Amino acid sequence: MSQHPNGIPAHGGHLINRIATPAERQEFMEKAESLPQVKLDKRALSDLVMIAIGGFSPLNGFMEAADYETVVTDMRLQNGLPWSIPVTLPVSEEVADSIKEGSWVRLDSPDGEFVGVLELTQKFRYNKAHEAINVYRTDEIKHPGVKVLYDAGPINLAGPVWLLERHPHPLFPKYQIDPAESRKLFLERDWKTVVGFQTRNPIHRAHEYIQKCALEVVDGLFLHPLVGATKSDDIPADVRMRCYEIMFEKYFPQNRVIMAINPSAMRYAGPREAIFHALVRKNYGCTHFIVGRDHAGVGDYYGTYDAQYIFDEFEPGELDIVPMKFEHAFYCTRTKGMATSKTSPSLPEERIHLSGTKVREMLRRGELPPPEFSRPEVAKELAKAMKASS
Ligand code: ADX
Repeated sequence: MSQHPNGIPAHGGHLINRIATPAERQEFMEKAESLPQVKLDKRALSDLVMIAIGGFSPLNGFMEAADYETVVTDMRLQNGLPWSIPVTLPVSEEVADSIKEGSWVRLDSPDGEFVGVLELTQKFRYNKAHEAINVYRTDEIKHPGVKVLYDAGPINLAGPVWLLERHPHPLFPKYQIDPAESRKLFLERDWKTVVGFQTRNPIHRAHEYIQKCALEVVDGLFLHPLVGATKSDDIPADVRMRCYEIMFEKYFPQNRVIMAINPSAMRYAGPREAIFHALVRKNYGCTHFIVGRDHAGVGDYYGTYDAQYIFDEFEPGELDIVPMKFEHAFYCTRTKGMATSKTSPSLPEERIHLSGTKVREMLRRGELPPPEFSRPEVAKELAKAMKASS
């Protein structure tokens, strides 16, 4: 592996940058009125941003049919590079009919703001059941990722994109650290090994434990909560961010952790998404990635460790990021500390682990989850948010 000036190479060799230059922006603004328009939903907007900032390198746009098909069936782009989740721009028949291949398309945010441009190289019809079964391992509509797929239009628009401008995040500007910048920060800190941590939940003791186990081994931790679209019963990003800040400031060594937001949307694709999450973190400059129990899972669609086993389907070095796999962690009342079955001889009744549903029920009843499950400051923050929303 050749050394990249900013640390490890991005996936595919170099970090993509599709943010329009001032001259390109000027040109796009002048053309804007005359271009056909497509309104992006929240997920498509976050995909556009991720492509533009290099988080989805080597993608430089929404996938064409050839890449889409091999990604769905073989977890690879046409050129053989591993890629596990389709990144597509589905639209209705009417929208697709109104735009010709070869034309430039103006991309608008859900609020109608001009945010980007697509050079439409291809429109293609796709098979939703085929995508659902391969990517999500189910075509049940109650799976939140499958639901998004089935609600989407039948035709994918494909081609390279440009983001008009990279605006600071409206809620968390301080934590907007894009891949080019995180790579620089890792170099400045002389972190040769960095572990990425994906999360869409407030950090509980088990999360903290596995992050700290990883930190015992590598130079730095990239705490990288996802703040793009999530399902409606997940805890909202603003509440989670307050909890992450509490954890970061009080319970982690500041000089060994960088916290940043991941603008992507959740797909809930379990194993396939674990690969995707790892590749995205590689693009941010991570050398390692944490995969715990039921990573990116939902309901009981995936086996507890399926998201770990899937890494074995790739040849060593192909992904070029090391998965750090952790078993189900819990508080052990016998050894009085966090543990997994690898480190504790405890009986099931000596293990405290609560499901997200159980915690939400407790908070709704006005009870705080116990300190064996959550740091008290985080529990209080969650209770406050729950009260404010009811
Ligand atoms: S996820 O959808 O982003 O995976 P979550 O934020 O709950 O959900 O998990 C973040 C990471 O922590 C994932 O790698 C997940 O597998 C891991 N994880 C969550 N809870 C536990 C646990 N009790 N033991 C071990 N790993 C866990």
